[in-house]
Amino acid sequence: MRIHCLFRLRLKNHCMSDEKKLFKVTIDNITVEVEPGTTILNAARLIGGEVVPPAMCYYTKLKGSGGKCRTCLVEVSKGSTADPRPMPKMIASCRTTVMDGMEVKSMTSDKAIDARHGVVEFLLINHPLDCPVCDQAGECKLQDLSYENGTSGTRYEFPRRTFEKHDLGPYIQLHMTRCIMCFRCVFTADQITEGRQHGILDRGEHVEIATYIKQSLDHDFIGNIIDVCPVGALTDKTFRFKNRVWFLKAVDAHRDCPKCSGKVQLWYRGDEVFRVTARKDTYGEVVDWICNECRFEKKKTSDWVIEGPSVVDPHSVISANHYVGAYKPQETLPEVMGRAPRLLMDIHSVSHVDRHDLSQLPGPAHSDDFK
Ligand code: SF4
Ligand code: FES
Repeated sequence: MRIHCLFRLRLKNHCMSDEKKLFKVTIDNITVEVEPGTTILNAARLIGGEVVPPAMCYYTKLKGSGGKCRTCLVEVSKGSTADPRPMPKMIASCRTTVMDGMEVKSMTSDKAIDARHGVVEFLLINHPLDCPVCDQAGECKLQDLSYENGTSGTRYEFPRRTFEKHDLGPYIQLHMTRCIMCFRCVFTADQITEGRQHGILDRGEHVEIATYIKQSLDHDFIGNIIDVCPVGALTDKTFRFKNRVWFLKAVDAHRDCPKCSGKVQLWYRGDEVFRVTARKDTYGEVVDWICNECRFEKKKTSDWVIEGPSVVDPHSVISANHYVGAYKPQETLPEVMGRAPRLLMDIHSVSHVDRHDLSQLPGPAHSDDFK
């Protein structure tokens, strides 16, 4: 009997040690349970929505990424249940792991929002404002970040940096002035290709992405550095200046490729495939790396099995006029009136209500005020 109980106790202990203890973390008043070792950024991504801090250098698939750009700053108002003291400085959520009982403020922290404004101002110090001619326009993370966290002016008075032009080979065009030094392209080349040919040269103000002695980037998977670049610093030579992304329609397609998963997005205008990219997830990260052959050489519909229109974020400029499953709401006015209205007017264009500053009225507004 005693042996039996001991066995059950051991079994229970064994099962308990197998069960992973989850950490509770509260971000912007929403509590979520995550595995120990999860970063605050990934915990926020589990919650989703506006709670998620922006991230310009972190990339889930790339080991060692994150911690470079500081756009993901958050305020930790309670360190943990064991040590509830707040953290004294804003911290990079992509590199800080959660503690049990931690409380974090992202969107609800004035300090974090202010810090993000500062980071955006720094990122834009040297970034050219060439969005109207940049191929990344419409899908640029820096553009989104500036709209959400930027200011309309700059305090910077000095000339922006310029660089000697580097030729990166047949597929990729580098615009170094647009680079924000997120290091993603270097990690990508390091981790998914053999024999990385480019890297970071020099330091501080002179730092740049380049090949050391004019090498060509032509490894089978090197095209993926175009997809990971959050700005328009690395562009596809087979697509650049050919079209704007919001004129294109993205379609999921696949092919039987011996080198990669062959799962891509084709970007159509009419019947013509203008570019091929990897598919991306909600956070703009590549789902499956694709090879150069799929990306640069297969630009005919006959090369692919079409799956259907890609799901595009409805807030993205790319989704404009490309609605999937949209329906026209039923027009109720003729039904109510029993006939079609002969004339419809915009009430604001014919009334004077908008021309009154209601806060200037001494008491409640009255019909006499709008004569
Ligand atoms: S070229 Fe693009 S991906 Fe590479 S470091 Fe610069 S911004 Fe990042
Ligand atoms: S995304 Fe966290 S520092 Fe860049």
